[in-house]
Amino acid sequence: MIAADLFDLAPVIPVVVLDDADAAVPLARALVDGGLPVIEVTLRTEAALAAITRIAAEVPDAVVGAGTVVRPQDAERSAAAGARFLVSPGCTPRLQAAMAAQGLPFLPGVATASEAIALLEDGITAMKFFPAEAAGGIPYLKALHGPLPQLRFCPTGGVGPGNAADYLALKNVGCVGGSWLTPPDAVRGGDWDRIRKLAAEAAALRSG
Ligand code: 3PG
Repeated sequence: MIAADLFDLAPVIPVVVLDDADAAVPLARALVDGGLPVIEVTLRTEAALAAITRIAAEVPDAVVGAGTVVRPQDAERSAAAGARFLVSPGCTPRLQAAMAAQGLPFLPGVATASEAIALLEDGITAMKFFPAEAAGGIPYLKALHGPLPQLRFCPTGGVGPGNAADYLALKNVGCVGGSWLTPPDAVRGGDWDRIRKLAAEAAALRSG
């Protein structure tokens, strides 16, 4: 699998923050059942790596990856835990090298044309656009498409049910990411039905 393949698996990548690794498997099953098999578990909690390991072992239909990869060791630990892809909110040469060294598809984060061009110099054409809304949103991505038509983005940060379809309609958007699929109260309360429904609504968003 290469990074661009992630775009074909689902229109939306749920960005998940998990405080309790015990919630990981039922949460992942709800997302997969709803039609969203690609799941980004952010390395923002102690439970994240254990959650990745459990999803990788127990939910075979999920493609679980690590998000919020910001240090080289985050890339190594995520790969060791069983992550099948890596996502970073921004990128530096060291972080890029560490992610590439894992042999996993990765979506490095960019917010400017120069950052995107730096990755393109290394042959990277699939990337995360973060923070999408704050960095210019849909008009910015449209403007990038002119000079950089070979790039495909996963916009994340401020993307939700109200604007996801508009992002997905852009030529240079491969999929979108966001935390709206997993409201903290639903995760804490084990409301997997609600999460499955949110996932199903998002899975139906794929643009034509
Ligand atoms: C991310 O890490 O991609 C973002 O924190 C998700 O942003 P959102 O909460 O606005 O969806």
